[in-house]
Amino acid sequence: MVKEIIMSQIINKKKQLTRTSKRLNIRIAYKEVSMIEIINLNKTIKTTKHTHTKILEDINLKIEQGDFVGVIGESGAGKSSFLRSINLLDRPSSGEIIIDKQNILFFNEKELVSLRRNIGMIFQSFCLLSTKNVEQNIALPMKLQKLNATTIQNKVNELLDLVNLSDKRKEYPAQLSGGQKQRVAIARALSCSPKLLLCDEPTSALDPKNTNTILELLDSINKKLGITIILVSHDISSINRFCNKIVTMEFGKIKHIDLCAKGINNG
Ligand SMILES: Nc1ncnc2c1ncn2[C@@H]1O[C@H](COP(=O)(O)OP(=O)(O)OP(=O)(O)O)[C@@H](O)[C@H]1O
Ligand SMILES: [Mg+2]
Repeated sequence: MVKEIIMSQIINKKKQLTRTSKRLNIRIAYKEVSMIEIINLNKTIKTTKHTHTKILEDINLKIEQGDFVGVIGESGAGKSSFLRSINLLDRPSSGEIIIDKQNILFFNEKELVSLRRNIGMIFQSFCLLSTKNVEQNIALPMKLQKLNATTIQNKVNELLDLVNLSDKRKEYPAQLSGGQKQRVAIARALSCSPKLLLCDEPTSALDPKNTNTILELLDSINKKLGITIILVSHDISSINRFCNKIVTMEFGKIKHIDLCAKGINNG
């Protein structure tokens, strides 16, 4: 009996050590990698009691600092699921997501908070708070981070200038056009000075003129601020115009990755 208890303790200790060394090894192993390296990413969800559906399957992708990556594919191809897995809004079932040499799937809560601060996100539906005005919406992430009032005000001014909305600072979302709302959302996403901006169909609700303004803004954010951007869109001509890497998804898989010189199809 005593022998069995000792044996089980040894086995447990061994498992614990294996887990720890796996964590350490993975962090040490990725010395020379891209800014983001996605390795064999899979996401399976339970659809009924006995069936599972593969939403993402063997996704492999490298993203370099300063890339402007376009993700295209038919509805249901897995674009949003893929994008949301990069900041772990959706947790994959298996695989690795290496960001700045660390596998974020091993991150604890505190590390995840800090990671998400470095990753801005914008959506088709803007997601602004209707009870806050433009500058309050932009300031929100910085307030949550408990930055001091002067720092927040300076950053809000800088961002209002960047998105060309200084004259709308006291307006509420209901008083803004779609394009203006998306510019507020972009300013808010940039408020914590992220290195990466995830954009899930940010122009789908906009007319062609506002679509162009938003995409040109994203392009200048990419070029001038050096922020890496991943843009999900159904608008292939815009993707061709602005992106240097185009990922085509189909049935949860990457069908192909095309590298192109930015602006090659700029007409
Ligand atoms: N939580 C979930 N439960 C069940 N199925 C899901 C869930 N999330 C996503 N799916 C399924 O996964 C697939 C991929 O969905 P996803 O939203 O990533 O597609 P998408 O390429 O972004 O499509 P769209 O262009 O319409 O936005 C779809 O078939 C969707 O129904
Ligand atoms: Mg989607």
